[in-house]
Amino acid sequence: MDFSPQLLDSLHAARAIAVLTGAGISAESGVPTFRDAQTGLWAQYDPTELATPQAFQRNPKLVWEWYAWRRELVGKAYPNLGHIALADMERHLTARQSHFTLITQNVDGLHRQAGSQNILELHGNIHRTKCFRENEVVEEWADTGDVPPLCPRCGAYLRPDVVWFNESLPQTEWRAAVEAATSCDLFFCIGTSSLVQPAASLPHYALQAGAVVVEINPNETPLSQNPSPGRLYSLRGKAGDLLPQLVAAVWGLA
Ligand code: OAD
Repeated sequence: MDFSPQLLDSLHAARAIAVLTGAGISAESGVPTFRDAQTGLWAQYDPTELATPQAFQRNPKLVWEWYAWRRELVGKAYPNLGHIALADMERHLTARQSHFTLITQNVDGLHRQAGSQNILELHGNIHRTKCFRENEVVEEWADTGDVPPLCPRCGAYLRPDVVWFNESLPQTEWRAAVEAATSCDLFFCIGTSSLVQPAASLPHYALQAGAVVVEINPNETPLSQNPSPGRLYSLRGKAGDLLPQLVAAVWGLA
């Protein structure tokens, strides 16, 4: 892709970059997105039956097993060129004493596997487990045959440490994400439908604070419609194609 010279200048000059990613960045690793029409998880499964605390209370076995299936799926996935380009971007920025923050809605852990360091996981991590009652992370538990397994401290059901609908985001991560969005000079919004709040507000906070915003997505989103001439670039394409090209165009090949 031919990137606009103004965009390349903004990237060169940036002293603080914040990035928000969604399921689309992991699509090329074979992890299904949520809202893509044919292949998205929410086209096949009902989120109200699987991704709310109420659903877990109604049918804990179903919910636990659905997340166990997804954990196995992402356990077999590898970071793709998009994840790797973001880890390269962070290395280039930090080598120049510039700031880089990667805010992700993904629970798959692939950014860390790709080498990214400064990561804020807004929706938790599917590889972690916590107690449904105490809300504390649990590392080990006895295999009693119960599904879901039981908390070794209090005997309540264990659940995946992900954020469900009707739950709040982890406040430390959310505050750090808002701080990164409002203090960066360039904000990337990659592979997200920009529909789920509060994460979808972050690019708007960045625009209001004066940052240049770059969206990377093969499809239009509500963010693409934002009337911010000269400060919003909507790059149409796959993250695994466009990010390595952009990193090479700005910082040279790693
Ligand atoms: P969505 O499934 O809503 O959106 C995925 C986006 O990725 C879409 O806009 C696609 O066009 C885009 N996409 C697909 N392939 C891509 C590629 N190769 N490169 C770049 N973009 C691509 O996923 P999210 O926006 O992440 O929350 O969804 C946000 C939250 O809603 C998730 O964290 C999850 C979900 O319900 C919970 O489970 C609580």
